[in-house]
Amino acid sequence: MSQTIIIFGASGDLTSRKLIPALYQLERKKRLDKPCRIVGVSRTPISDTQWREKLQNTTREFLGERFDQNCWNAFAPMIHYFVGDVEKQETFPKLNAMLQSLENDEPANRLYYLSTAPTFYAATVKQLGGAGMADESHGARRVIIEKPFGTDWETARQLNNDVHRVFQERQIYRIDHYLGKETVNNLLVLRFANAIFEPIWNRNYIDHVQITANEEVLVGRRAPFYEKAGILRDMFQNHLLQLLTFTAMEPPARFDADAVRGEKVKVLHAIRGMSPEEAAVNTLRGQYRSYRSESDVAPNSRTATYAAVRLMIDNWRWKDVPFYLRSGKGMSCRTTQIIVQFRRPPHLMFAKSGGNFETYPMPEIDANRMLIQIQPAEGIQIHFLTKVPDTEMQMRQTEFQFNFRESFRGELPEAYERLLLDAMHGDASLFARSDEVEAAWRIIDPIQSTWDNSLQSAPDFYEVNSWGPPAAADWIRRFGHEWFDSCPLLRGESL
Ligand code: BG6
Repeated sequence: MSQTIIIFGASGDLTSRKLIPALYQLERKKRLDKPCRIVGVSRTPISDTQWREKLQNTTREFLGERFDQNCWNAFAPMIHYFVGDVEKQETFPKLNAMLQSLENDEPANRLYYLSTAPTFYAATVKQLGGAGMADESHGARRVIIEKPFGTDWETARQLNNDVHRVFQERQIYRIDHYLGKETVNNLLVLRFANAIFEPIWNRNYIDHVQITANEEVLVGRRAPFYEKAGILRDMFQNHLLQLLTFTAMEPPARFDADAVRGEKVKVLHAIRGMSPEEAAVNTLRGQYRSYRSESDVAPNSRTATYAAVRLMIDNWRWKDVPFYLRSGKGMSCRTTQIIVQFRRPPHLMFAKSGGNFETYPMPEIDANRMLIQIQPAEGIQIHFLTKVPDTEMQMRQTEFQFNFRESFRGELPEAYERLLLDAMHGDASLFARSDEVEAAWRIIDPIQSTWDNSLQSAPDFYEVNSWGPPAAADWIRRFGHEWFDSCPLLRGESL
């Protein structure tokens, strides 16, 4: 069936940086259902032609060499613009009339993309309902809701209630772009399409897990948003907990939205809650030193730009296996990685050569390790000990390695390509369900409120271009572990 994609908040950055380039790529790969129309809705009064020109420039800028003028010329006529204010009720019947005319009054599937400021989500959904635009008698009506989905459990629950008044859960797609990343999807394949990893993927063989999402970028002009959000709401409630659920979930019976999301929710429910005292021990926060001098940041701001959190999952598979999650802005390199640290062998028969390990890079971590690089340098390494030739019995960490770009030619697609296509086809497996979002907030809220209420302590400062506050190393050592601080580098990769 034909398809109409309606983007609310069309003049925002997300539309030009991510959504339009992703839709253009889908057109280039001939994956869009035809006919397809893309309608941007925003208050800025510009014409279709002006909007197409603007998007052509930004798409060329973001795609670089992948931009093809002929393909753009075929794609551009699909793009339309509607001047409208989502706060005004009269916008919606007019928009609906415009959509019907573009659709030639024929049935069409519609995908509403809410990319406005989050404060407008509930009102926009309500107006869509009021104008009969959620009614499915002339094609599917689906809605994608951008993050952040609420700012805590209470607001997320309220938003879920508001959206459920108009759309059924099967029509709702809460987006987390991490779930569209190839390397994140590959976690499911690694674990559930291979037989050799799953038998050791549990407390009997795994000592602990480290999930890191470090960025070099600073907060910059996003400060008004960031001051209120901070790193926990911005990165942990969504991206990091999604990585954790993919790493820790039980094998779903089928790859479908209910089965996959059901297993993820079970993991979130099994994460041990924290009292304020426990949160004080099991979390650490930081702020990069120049943060307070960014514009729109309060001179005494206590907003965290770095956090490390230790979570325990109380179930048979993971009992007593800590999951360390950390993320920061202003880090020394951009890397998102999952380290699965295996246990040491129960008995080392090389006692004679004990202490004679030539271990690399960290003498404390000499057991097997799986390093899953989500980005950049996408791939997987397995570290294991090997005998150093021409020595009595010295050993050194060596590795097996898989590198996506080496093994599969061509660019890895952008996360939004996959997610937009799935939503258009009605597959919600890679989108967050209402109970999932609420369960994630239930984990984050007690930590955030402990931080907000502990007036005597502030985030530890750290230098830009570092691995976070110096205290982070002592913090994890207290639990008997070491951070695996390694900038991504896979052999054969030019970064
Ligand atoms: C966004 C956060 O959701 O994810 C940003 O709001 C962050 O603060 C971004 O920079 C990171 O995404 P990626 O895909 O670059 O890891």
